[in-house]
Amino acid sequence: MAATRLLLAFLLLLLQAIAAASSDAAHLLAARSVLRDPTGALASWGAGSGRGLPCRWARVSCANNSAAAVAGLDLSKLSLGDGFPAALCSLRSLEHLDLSANEFVGPLPACLAALPVLAHLNLAGNSFSGEVPPEWGAGFRSLLVLNLVQNLLSGEFPAFLANLTGLQEFSLAYNLFSPSPLPMKIGDLADLRVLFVANCSLNGTIPASIGKLKNLVNLDLSRNSIHGEIPRSIGNLSSLEQIELFANQLSGSIPVGFGGLKRLHSLDFSMNGLTGDIPEDMFAAPSLASVHMYQNNLSGHLPATLGTAQSLYDLRIFANQLSGPLPPEFGKNCPLMFLDTSDNGLSGPIPATLCASGKLKQLMLLDNEFEGAIPVELGQCRTLIRVRLSSNRLSGPVPLEFWGLPGVYLLELSGNALSGTVDPAIAGAKNLSKLLLQDNRFTGALPAKLGTLTNLQEFKASNNCFSGPLPPSLANLSLLDNLDLSHNSFSGEIPRDFGKLKQLSQLYLSDNHLSGDVPSELGDIIGMNTLDLSNNELSGQLPVQLQNLKLTHFNISYNKLSGTLPVLFNGLQYQESFLGNPGLCHGFCQSNGDPDAKGHNTIKLIVYIFIAAAIILLIGLAWFGYKCRLHKINASELDDGKSSWVLTSYHRVDFSERDIVNSLDESNVIGQGGAGKVYKAVVGPEGEAMAVKKLWPVGVASKRIDSFEAEVATLSKVRHRNIVKLACSITNTVCRLLVYEYMPNGSLGDMLHSAKRSILDWPMRYKIAVNAAEGLSYLHHDCEPPIVHRDVKSNNILLDAEYGAKVADFGVAKTIGDGPATMSVIAGSCGYIAPEYAYSLHVTEKSDIYSFGVVILELVTGMKPMAPEIGEMDLVTWVSANIAQNGLESVLDHTLSEAEQFKDEMCKVLKIALLCVLNVPKSRPPMRAVVKMLLEVKEENKPMLKLAPLSI
Ligand SMILES: *[C@@H]1O[C@H](CO)[C@@H](O)[C@H](O)[C@H]1NC(C)=O
Ligand SMILES: *[C@@H]1O[C@H](CO)[C@@H](O)[C@H](O)[C@H]1NC(C)=O
Ligand SMILES: *[C@@H]1O[C@H](CO)[C@@H](O)[C@H](O)[C@H]1NC(C)=O
Ligand SMILES: *[C@@H]1O[C@H](CO)[C@@H](O)[C@H](O)[C@H]1NC(C)=O
Ligand SMILES: *[C@@H]1O[C@H](CO)[C@@H](O)[C@H](O)[C@H]1NC(C)=O
Repeated sequence: MAATRLLLAFLLLLLQAIAAASSDAAHLLAARSVLRDPTGALASWGAGSGRGLPCRWARVSCANNSAAAVAGLDLSKLSLGDGFPAALCSLRSLEHLDLSANEFVGPLPACLAALPVLAHLNLAGNSFSGEVPPEWGAGFRSLLVLNLVQNLLSGEFPAFLANLTGLQEFSLAYNLFSPSPLPMKIGDLADLRVLFVANCSLNGTIPASIGKLKNLVNLDLSRNSIHGEIPRSIGNLSSLEQIELFANQLSGSIPVGFGGLKRLHSLDFSMNGLTGDIPEDMFAAPSLASVHMYQNNLSGHLPATLGTAQSLYDLRIFANQLSGPLPPEFGKNCPLMFLDTSDNGLSGPIPATLCASGKLKQLMLLDNEFEGAIPVELGQCRTLIRVRLSSNRLSGPVPLEFWGLPGVYLLELSGNALSGTVDPAIAGAKNLSKLLLQDNRFTGALPAKLGTLTNLQEFKASNNCFSGPLPPSLANLSLLDNLDLSHNSFSGEIPRDFGKLKQLSQLYLSDNHLSGDVPSELGDIIGMNTLDLSNNELSGQLPVQLQNLKLTHFNISYNKLSGTLPVLFNGLQYQESFLGNPGLCHGFCQSNGDPDAKGHNTIKLIVYIFIAAAIILLIGLAWFGYKCRLHKINASELDDGKSSWVLTSYHRVDFSERDIVNSLDESNVIGQGGAGKVYKAVVGPEGEAMAVKKLWPVGVASKRIDSFEAEVATLSKVRHRNIVKLACSITNTVCRLLVYEYMPNGSLGDMLHSAKRSILDWPMRYKIAVNAAEGLSYLHHDCEPPIVHRDVKSNNILLDAEYGAKVADFGVAKTIGDGPATMSVIAGSCGYIAPEYAYSLHVTEKSDIYSFGVVILELVTGMKPMAPEIGEMDLVTWVSANIAQNGLESVLDHTLSEAEQFKDEMCKVLKIALLCVLNVPKSRPPMRAVVKMLLEVKEENKPMLKLAPLSI
């Protein structure tokens, strides 16, 4: 009898389990049917049959005992999208739901709160919007982890969530809440381990009740508008490991008590208005490793506990008003790696022990009152890579070995009273890229060994007492961009070989005793824009070759030049350039005139003006003649265009159509594309540079793709920081000009596939990829109707002064209406054309995404999309073949010096590129997802996301 009852009970249980399982399977399939699943990650759901379903489906897990009901669903990072599938709320046994890092939109589902055993809910990194449903404050009986980080949630901060008293993790950071305070009741969440509410528009103060959270491990209130003082009770949070209060409006002084926090590892109070001393016990916390308190108003001396801190490796206290010395044995007891005390009033010597543990990499002490010599011990610190000691009161010679530290790329010693010579040992500093020695008391000759520092880009040594000749070996510094040796006592000639410094843009040699001729070879440095040779003893004629240079600053005053000034230097912009060269004559040379006679001078002046005018007229005529002969069509354009130019502006412009038309000189040509020539024009009261694209005249254009109407129509509607801005168009009957913002660093293609490639380090390439992706994403997703670029390539991605990237050249862009447009000509460039072009002429955003994938491949591999090195194979084929044979890392650009350091990041970006160049257009992720994936590559390294969900 008893046995029968037992059997019955068992059967009942089994039936229940099977029923739950089959209905859970149905719920999952119902959920999938409304999901957008671009990568087909859930395609296998529904396969198979019999017992154990749906427990064996991808990303589904079941609890052990019930062997059937769905307990866990991990759908993170699958590019899933559209609204939350309500069917998931029917999974009554669900304990763990992770939908993070997808593309979900729309409101948060109220129904989730009714799930009886849900313990772990992660919806971070989506685009859920609207308010948090009030039902959530009354449900979630079992919730331990709530993660809504990085969505678009709005409305007041959901204070009612503090009702969920069992919570261990409360993460709502990076949402768009309206200003509201942190709820007082937060102190009642007695089990809370993580409180992550950064960038939630919180105002008000930090409730003192926060001190009751005895289990709190991570406290992150950063990037809010919280004011008032840091409550003393925080010192009671004995489990605390990380506290982030940066970028708020906190005031008052830092409370005592942090020293007692045994587990505290990192602390960031930066960018607030904190005042007073740093409390004496601050650095007594035994695990404290990273302390950031920069940009506050902290004052007083540093606490003595700093000298005995055991775990400290990162201290950033710059931009405060701290005074007094660093502890004398600072660095001896801790693994110091990063020290920035810049912009304070610290004084006394630099401690000799800073690198005692052999870890110091970055040493920034600039803008203080440190005095005495640079300690000899720092010469042994071979881990150093960045050294900034400028604007202090340091004196004495620089230790010999300090000059030659092999890893240092920035050595900044300017603005001190350092003396002695630059030792030839500097040859050991192979990584040196910036050497800044100006405003000191260095003496002696510069060592010839400086010429071996092939990474040097900037070398400034002005305002010292250097003497002797300029070492000709400096001409080997092929990356040198800026050389400033002014205000010294250098003598001898300017080495002719300086003409080999092809990357030089600024050369300052003024106020020395240089003599001899001005080398004509300087005219070979075509990129030079600043040349100052004033106050020397240079003689002879000014070489005509200097006319090749486009100098914005040219000064050769107060030398001993003689002879006739080259014609082009008679312009007004050079009127200050040649003062104090009595032997130099402007225009024509008399046999030693009488310089004091005033009458003479007036006559001379009139003659000069006359000559100058005549020259300008002649040049004008010659130019005109030349144009007429070579380009009849041009002459007629300008002629009958004179009165009929029409300027249509899309942004405010400070110039007239004439300003632009007048700059269309062959010497200003900066590029030539399929649609026409591109000129640089410097116009307007501020001398702003613009890029002018002159489209081929209509007659010529009929044989080409005529793109004017298309480009203007699209570009004038488009406004985004990563799209090149069209300022205006200027047209007359035959000639059409487009005026864009000028992008000083040219195109990505030119930069990446030339000698300038080494300028683009990995972080810059990464930024370029993100910028360009954001520009394209805007075109695809935010324009109405969406715009397909149709010619995405590295030559159409332009770089501004900071190497930010913007997408350009919509020559063939067409907006697409309802369906995909069929174009009559194949657009696009070799190596970038998506495979579907081969079998259909259908154009969708997906073709742009393919081309963009190729651009990323160029960034990651450094290769051209088609190149002889890869056997004229296209890059996509080459990359795929190599990865298949030798793995991902084999295709990374090994010329990048930091390739090792960024290997992981590069591989991640490479994987994104591979998704973009998938053969089947539908499988390529949408541009918006590409942007997101690219951003995640970096965000995984950010401390904010170190707050990973706790394993419960
Ligand atoms: C299932 O049982 C095994 C062994 O008893 C255990 O290691 C595992 O953690 C259990 N899994 C779940 C989801 O409970
Ligand atoms: C939160 O709890 C309080 C009482 O503890 C209750 O009055 C309030 O209605 C709850 N809030 C919500 C949104 O359920
Ligand atoms: C927070 O911001 C809201 C909305 O601007 C305002 O009404 C409230 O007074 C602010 N609270 C504090 C404490 O500043
Ligand atoms: C919060 O995030 C928004 C959007 O990402 C940003 O614009 C804003 O500056 C951030 N606020 C703070 C205080 O950092
Ligand atoms: C810290 O906790 C102790 C005991 O739990 C309590 O007496 C004290 O008031 C608390 N300190 C602060 C500043 O809240």
